[in-house]
Amino acid sequence: MPDLLSNENIMTALGKVKDPEIGRDLVSLGMVKNVEITGPHVALTVELTTPACPLKAKIEDEIVTGLEALGAETVKVDWASNVKRSFGGPAADLIPGVKNTIAVASGKGGVGKTTVAVNLAVSLARDGARVGLLDADITGPNVPLMMGTMGAHVTGAGGRVNPVISHGVTMMSIQYFLTGDAPVIWRGPLIHSAIQQFLRDVDWGELDYLVVDLPPGTGDAALSLSQLIPLSGAVIVTTPQEVSLADARKAIAMFTKVNVRTLGVIENMSGFICPNCGEEHDIFGSGGGEKIARELELDVLGRIPLEPGVRAGSDAGVPITSTQHPDADQSRAGQAMREVARTIAGRISVVAEPYAMAAAG
Ligand SMILES: Nc1ncnc2c1ncn2[C@@H]1O[C@H](COP(=O)(O)OP(=O)(O)O)[C@@H](O)[C@H]1O
Ligand SMILES: [Mg+2]
Repeated sequence: MPDLLSNENIMTALGKVKDPEIGRDLVSLGMVKNVEITGPHVALTVELTTPACPLKAKIEDEIVTGLEALGAETVKVDWASNVKRSFGGPAADLIPGVKNTIAVASGKGGVGKTTVAVNLAVSLARDGARVGLLDADITGPNVPLMMGTMGAHVTGAGGRVNPVISHGVTMMSIQYFLTGDAPVIWRGPLIHSAIQQFLRDVDWGELDYLVVDLPPGTGDAALSLSQLIPLSGAVIVTTPQEVSLADARKAIAMFTKVNVRTLGVIENMSGFICPNCGEEHDIFGSGGGEKIARELELDVLGRIPLEPGVRAGSDAGVPITSTQHPDADQSRAGQAMREVARTIAGRISVVAEPYAMAAAG
């Protein structure tokens, strides 16, 4: 049936396949590239809006089904990606090479905010994105420890600062400016200007995603930082306990107040994976994230179990999602983190779509 397999028919068939997240078809989104027809064999490239696309398999299935209906014997789909920018405004000029910024926040400390931020960054990098991680927790900078860079110090010249790179992620933290264990006792305005310099003076280069580990809580520091950093969106980390949920509600309210969109809630320490029997036990309960998400009309972006390997990885400077972690392939928490990262990347693509349309005229 060589006639059926014309370029035109192929494009019509692909015009019926939707990007499940954006909700529009691949052809009108300009995602179909290089269609090659050789007899009954078709090869094409799909340019995704993120290399961490959570729905690749679904898109591929629909393409193959559609083209087989036209008589294709084999369909080869190659993947490419072109991450779009999802924020604007004057503050965005501080970081011209950065396409998206994701704040990781929580109502209180100890819920695993930094752990989530670190693993989100490592997961996105592992999927092929260019990723930065900004440690905006000036008074409790934990990113360097968890990324295995406690000994690192900043270098630079001419007022420019080079970031530190580890596990495929480009990073900056106040820790890289410190010598010894002196605690950081900084007041609001100094924190503010430190963050401004982290944005403006660090050579971030071209980044698809800049993940920001915000200070815990909903006090002045967190509030002013969420105004200072141009954000594509925020994710809120909570644990299932009621006290933690109450704080998460406050964090969400804070973002609403400064017009930052909350992308959803991540429930961390949701169930305990017993290292001996492999079974999941409820310690803090579970489903709290769902409750708050329902109540505030947000989505649960994922549930991450409590797993000893996560803490061990953080302490050793090897995040659970890093290929260097001994449990990298079998950890359920690691798998959950990688899925959460893809879900977030998908949400960001949706946020970016109107900006991309506007830019295209
Ligand atoms: N899912 C998890 N499983 C096991 N330990 C975890 C998990 N999430 C976080 N932790 C551990 O809990 C502690 C607090 O996490 P951290 O990310 O520092 O919290 P926060 O940044 O919210 O204060 C750390 O020791 C960390 O390794
Ligand atoms: Mg922290």
